Amino acid sequence: MSARAQIGIIVGSTRPVRVGRPVADEIATLVGTAGGDAVMLDLAEIRLPLLDEALPPASGVRTQPHTIAWAEQIEALDGVIFVTPDYNSGYPAALKNAIDYLKTEWSAMPALVVSYGWAGGASAAAQLTSVLSYIGLQVQGDGVQMPFQPTDFDESMQLIDAAAFVGRSAEALAAAVAQVVEVSAHELVSA
Ligand SMILES: Cc1cc2nc3c(=O)[nH]c(=O)nc-3n(C[C@H](O)[C@H](O)[C@H](O)COP(=O)(O)O)c2cc1C
Repeated sequence: MSARAQIGIIVGSTRPVRVGRPVADEIATLVGTAGGDAVMLDLAEIRLPLLDEALPPASGVRTQPHTIAWAEQIEALDGVIFVTPDYNSGYPAALKNAIDYLKTEWSAMPALVVSYGWAGGASAAAQLTSVLSYIGLQVQGDGVQMPFQPTDFDESMQLIDAAAFVGRSAEALAAAVAQVVEVSAHELVSA
């Protein structure tokens, strides 16, 4: 049996009540449909402290147990999907922190950026894509931007139906997820 590509889904938001995790759960299902194995990497659960390594990540030196564990989780992946909200026209600090912990572990990894917000999280996606490209990830296509509608939320601003919200972008999302799974699986075979 051929190995299935391991696709990390990094949940970039860490608030106690958030859109990010249910959206990421929907994306995990699409990864499975595309023939990959979804590996949920929820930054709210991983709880990395603010970067506390003495040497820059490019040194390759990893000393803190949480850095070593994070590096091992990323190294085990064949591809990665970043799920990010738009916070003040950018992506969340927790996500930047998680990215900054590592360097070579990200190198050449196929990546997809999925964003959401009132304008589809376009600003966050642009920022994140720029940073990921700088680090050397292979960012696939233009990503998928999922715009909110006011009726997506109840009176306490909780997303009412994650599947319906994701469903509005189903076609673009399925195509983009399939692409990142395919590229990741191809590199797995050629490695
Ligand atoms: C700190 C903060 C800043 C925000 N700034 C923006 C913004 O610039 N653009 C936008 O469309 N939505 C913005 N929002 C609304 C978010 O899109 C919305 O709260 C979304 O649910 C956040 O994702 P999360 O629930 O996964 O944290 C902001 C929300 C927070 C918490």
